[in-house]
Amino acid sequence: MKLSKTYGHLKKELDAIEQALIEAIQADHHLLRESSTKLLQAGGKRIRPVFVLLCGQFGRFDIERAKTVAVSLELIHMASLVHDDVIDDAAIRRGKPTIKQLYGNRVAMYTGDFILARALEYITFLLEPDAHHTLSRTMVELSTGEVEQIKDKYNWNQNLRDYLRRIKRKTALLIATSCKMGAIAANVPEAYQEKLFRYGYYIGMSYQIIDDILDITASEAELGKPAGNDLLQGNVTLPMLFAMKDETFYQQLSAAFSEPSGVSDKEWQQLLVTMKESEAIPQSYRLSDRYLQKALQELEGLPEYKAKFTLQRIAKYIGSRRS
Ligand code: FPP
Ligand code: MG
Repeated sequence: MKLSKTYGHLKKELDAIEQALIEAIQADHHLLRESSTKLLQAGGKRIRPVFVLLCGQFGRFDIERAKTVAVSLELIHMASLVHDDVIDDAAIRRGKPTIKQLYGNRVAMYTGDFILARALEYITFLLEPDAHHTLSRTMVELSTGEVEQIKDKYNWNQNLRDYLRRIKRKTALLIATSCKMGAIAANVPEAYQEKLFRYGYYIGMSYQIIDDILDITASEAELGKPAGNDLLQGNVTLPMLFAMKDETFYQQLSAAFSEPSGVSDKEWQQLLVTMKESEAIPQSYRLSDRYLQKALQELEGLPEYKAKFTLQRIAKYIGSRRS
């Protein structure tokens, strides 16, 4: 089953958001317009807008307000990926060349800045200070997460807490914020806003853990980007942390990466195969499942609206994701 099947009934609203995204990225300068259009056309699941729409159903839903929030959040997400691909020197994403690959680092940085500025322009439609505060705090955390990730690269001695804090910042908070801001835009009661925020947070944690597992277990065709990249780039993920508990693996890993010529292809492939076949993979899935259970628990006290069942279905889909 495809993820989009779980929220097929939102097609009309999602089409309106897509149209608003096209309008939002229009720029006077042809190069910015071209690069931003390429970025938008590269697609994406638009899962943040989906959460905005669904969480708004627990209050007085207003499509214009929801659309503003959804566009703003999706733009922030897009901008952060353009910048991230410069930092990671990534040539492909979602099976297509990245902006940095097509236009170079400089244009990619400007494109990210431009899209981010548009996101901020969009959100001014909402007058509630709470919305602005929530959004800016999330951006601060997102940027901090990225710097932490760079700082922690190739540090094989970090622990589970370091990893969880990093994925909270780089992924879970923006999803949690999408849920909360969808709720704020619809004046959802505060107690529900907090529940939806936590639902988004737990879903985000689970989603990122599965992403990190798939980086090891899935193929390049399935991922739309090179597989095994986290290990190569020295990004320590959950399966690696579990695998490193085995002293032999830890020694092999640190020896392979301490060679002056860098890790060889053969060693890297061997390390990946060892992790793939190890207990680290099911262990990682178990932690992801615990987050999913927590996400589902958060929904329990919410009214029995269709949106609640869709949020439950999305949680279950994420748990079963294998590519
Ligand atoms: C992807 O991680 C990176 C992120 C989700 C966050 C990137 C954030 C920034 C660059 C900070 C900039 C912030 C703003 C507000 C514009 P990854 O490299 O592990 O995943 P990938 O394989 O999808 O690239
Ligand atoms: Mg990256």
